[in-house]
Amino acid sequence: MALWTKPPTKLLSGKIMAFTPTRYDTYDFANRRHIGPSPAEMEEMLKVVGVPSLEALIDETVPQAIRQSTPLSWAPMTEHALLDKLREVQKKNQVMTSLIGQGYYGTATPPVIQRNILENPAWYTAYTPYQPEIAQGRLEALLNYQTMVADLTGLPVANASLLDESTAAAEAMMMAHRASKSKAQAFFVDLNLHPQTVDVLETRAAPFGITIVKGQPDEMLPDQVFGAIFQYPGTYGHVRDFTDYIAMLHAAGGIAVMATDLLALCLLKEPGAMGADIAVGSAQRFGVPMGYGGPHAAFMACRDALKRTMPGRIVGVSIDARGNKAYRLALQTREQHIRREKATSNVCTAQALLAVMASFYAVFHGPMGLRAIAERVHFNAVRLHDALVAAGADVAPQAYFDTITVRVGVGQMGIMAAARQNGLNFRKVGEGRVGISVDELTDDDVIARVLAAFGISDPPPAGTHLGFPEEMLRETDYLTHPVFHMNRAESEMMRYMRRLSDRDLALDRAMIPLGSCTMKLNAAAEMAPLTWHRFNSLHPFVPADQAGGYAEMIEDLTAKLCEITGYDAFSMQPNSGAQGEYAGLMTIAAYHRSRGDTQRDVCLIPMSAHGTNPASAAMAGMKVVVVKSAPNGDVDIEDFAAKAAAAGDTLAACMITYPSTHGVFEETVKTICQITHEHGGQVYLDGANMNALVGLVRPGECGSDVSHLNLHKTFAIPHGGGGPGMGPIGVKAHLAPFLPGHSETDGKPGAVSAAPYGSASVLLISWAYCLMMGGAGLAQATRVAILNANYIAARLRASYPILFMGNRGRVAHECILDTRPFADVGVTVDDIAKRLIDNGFHAPTMSWPVAGTLMVEPTESETKAELDRFIAALEAIRAEVRDVAEGRISAEDSPLRHAPHTVEDLVAEWDRPYSREQGCFPPGAFRVDKYWPPVGRVDNAYGDRNLVCTCPPLEAWAAE
Ligand SMILES: Cc1ncc(COP(=O)(O)O)c(C=O)c1O
Repeated sequence: MALWTKPPTKLLSGKIMAFTPTRYDTYDFANRRHIGPSPAEMEEMLKVVGVPSLEALIDETVPQAIRQSTPLSWAPMTEHALLDKLREVQKKNQVMTSLIGQGYYGTATPPVIQRNILENPAWYTAYTPYQPEIAQGRLEALLNYQTMVADLTGLPVANASLLDESTAAAEAMMMAHRASKSKAQAFFVDLNLHPQTVDVLETRAAPFGITIVKGQPDEMLPDQVFGAIFQYPGTYGHVRDFTDYIAMLHAAGGIAVMATDLLALCLLKEPGAMGADIAVGSAQRFGVPMGYGGPHAAFMACRDALKRTMPGRIVGVSIDARGNKAYRLALQTREQHIRREKATSNVCTAQALLAVMASFYAVFHGPMGLRAIAERVHFNAVRLHDALVAAGADVAPQAYFDTITVRVGVGQMGIMAAARQNGLNFRKVGEGRVGISVDELTDDDVIARVLAAFGISDPPPAGTHLGFPEEMLRETDYLTHPVFHMNRAESEMMRYMRRLSDRDLALDRAMIPLGSCTMKLNAAAEMAPLTWHRFNSLHPFVPADQAGGYAEMIEDLTAKLCEITGYDAFSMQPNSGAQGEYAGLMTIAAYHRSRGDTQRDVCLIPMSAHGTNPASAAMAGMKVVVVKSAPNGDVDIEDFAAKAAAAGDTLAACMITYPSTHGVFEETVKTICQITHEHGGQVYLDGANMNALVGLVRPGECGSDVSHLNLHKTFAIPHGGGGPGMGPIGVKAHLAPFLPGHSETDGKPGAVSAAPYGSASVLLISWAYCLMMGGAGLAQATRVAILNANYIAARLRASYPILFMGNRGRVAHECILDTRPFADVGVTVDDIAKRLIDNGFHAPTMSWPVAGTLMVEPTESETKAELDRFIAALEAIRAEVRDVAEGRISAEDSPLRHAPHTVEDLVAEWDRPYSREQGCFPPGAFRVDKYWPPVGRVDNAYGDRNLVCTCPPLEAWAAE
């Protein structure tokens, strides 16, 4: 039978019949990519919520007084048109062979990694592994990353990534500040550091009164500094042995940091062997494209004694309920929430996905392969060096790995231009030199073109002598663990990646209802351009005329974000939300300073704020004053007014989150802004909850002065298992002159990230999202996000008390389920979170902002069917709690306490007072496509007591 028969247009009688075209609006279709419930489902959901229309629900939820004055203006685009547009825009980027170096290098992403990791939603849509039972795959990959970093740097402990090399250096400086025995308040900065790192160090040092002392290593006065940072190899290529400098520093009680390069360390003596305390750097050249600045993973490794002060996340090894090996985040998991302004750093989101890619690059090549790449890079540098010297050029340094500089004097512009004629970018070094960094992609053709730029026509054969003294050769092994020695047939690689991703629960399997995290769809069309050559191959410091496509994208995205937020200007530099908070507060501080208000240093922060808020305020040199919450969860306005008045002319800022972290549109937001302004302070509105505002409310119109947006929440950038992210900040016009500068763009101070536009390439995702949705589509997404949350609240209200409903009994885009009453019968919030895994779900946000509760944020992306599956799961869990409460089973024996159930549980002897069926297949769990957690409940305390942060020993691996 034909699937489709064209309706006859002519009846036999000869009369013309009216033809009704099928309604299939491609724009709707594009929006439906993001909006889960169908129109018919929405009708049903509105009935359950008890409102006649979506508009009526919004009227009951979002206070009229803050609704935006005009709708968003731009039209939607179909996926097809979007991809066409992106193809046109990318043509405006010109890809040259960039030999600029300075922390960014050409690299070959193995296609097996690109396809199976970077382009695979099982990896990129995963959330940060706070729930270890559903994250064993990415935890193993991150442990491989830590092992790789620890091995190559020669230091025993490494973390699971930081944001970029420059911010990692700043984190190391602060670690040194905490750990140093020296009382000095100065930090020595080697002038061979990448300039962008020096800038970020200066920005970060200022609020703490740390003086940055710059000089050549032999100018360091060890007893006048609490620590020092050296670059190895240096930004201009120098390979030096820092052993003696480090010994001098240690003798004076100081801490030694080395910024280094993983590929160089495959050949060169490692920082650990020189006595370094901390090593930092970027893992970009391990298979992660430059992407015009990012995202890439930075790394940090340190001596064992410093591990408890290390920022960021550390994966550790622990055991599960059966005593089997299980991975988990160790030590300071979400430490900001515990220590708040006393936290050691504000790093929350980092660069997990890129760290995973880099770790697989090491698995793919193994130690021999990496060494071969390092040798090839080095001998190409030697070849260039020798050819230039033979031609009479003044080439430096004498000891180098991959980078040399050539004195060209007044001919600098001419040589740079000749290079460009040959499709190359050299680095401009001072007024009379050019820098050349070779990389994995440098081949005979590139060598010939480089030499041609200097008028040398006969490239010599590959060099075979070392370009550094033999004593600098590395003597220790690295990557000895079997994972780096597996059979590297692509089938094996592909299957290893698949095995790991199968252990995890990401958005490609189920809704991830994490409050304050906005786990929405990351649509395929938005992700596509990330791997296009003309977007991903640009060095961040190429001349502007080679990045016209990026400029157009950033300009248009900026305009759209301004229209969405009501701000006047944006900085795209911050590469995480917390980094945005910090940048925003630093902008406020600079504004106050410009007006002579240097005494303004108090920052009012409500008790319910996200932990990164107080941590960022402390990093910006502000004193945190905590404001109470009223019983209904709102900011206690009287307390706020009193504390603002007490601060008086020392009030620098307040930081509020809107809608509040309790998931409610507080009616008093304008009053809070007004009080702050009356006392001369500035309002920082944390934009992490923008998913409840876009198209309906503009923070700028409510009286706020600055906000960061978590583009990895509201604007469709995937969470990547803990990063990448982007946290650009929007400001009102009066703050625009104080936004972060960058030495490679406007030359202004205040850089907060290594690259001028942060992790620029992922901005494409947010831009594509805005373009496809159109203004009206974005507003509709907000409405549906609010509908989905209210639907869940309405359906679950009978089973779980819902905390903090607004005045009219509505929640915003998330709702808090109160599970504290169950503690009386011995059921914890942990039990419920783990039981949800059996039902096939990632737990909601646990114990934040209120301990013992679950915060659910469904987002607009989830369909009614998925919401219903989730609701059924939570209702079944409620029934199990009732079984405990009514004495039918004890909490200890209940499926709640034994959750999550593994295959091993299923097949082992069964002596539990509930059935296998109930244990393993509760409502919500799919019969055929059941998600089985690879481990049972993980023992957190055991992991912290027995800290292991690198791959477990060979025997454990072999046993597996
Ligand atoms: C309310 C709020 N503010 C700030 C942040 C920090 O964002 P990021 O993790 O990108 O640093 C978060 C992230 O979870 C958040 O929920």
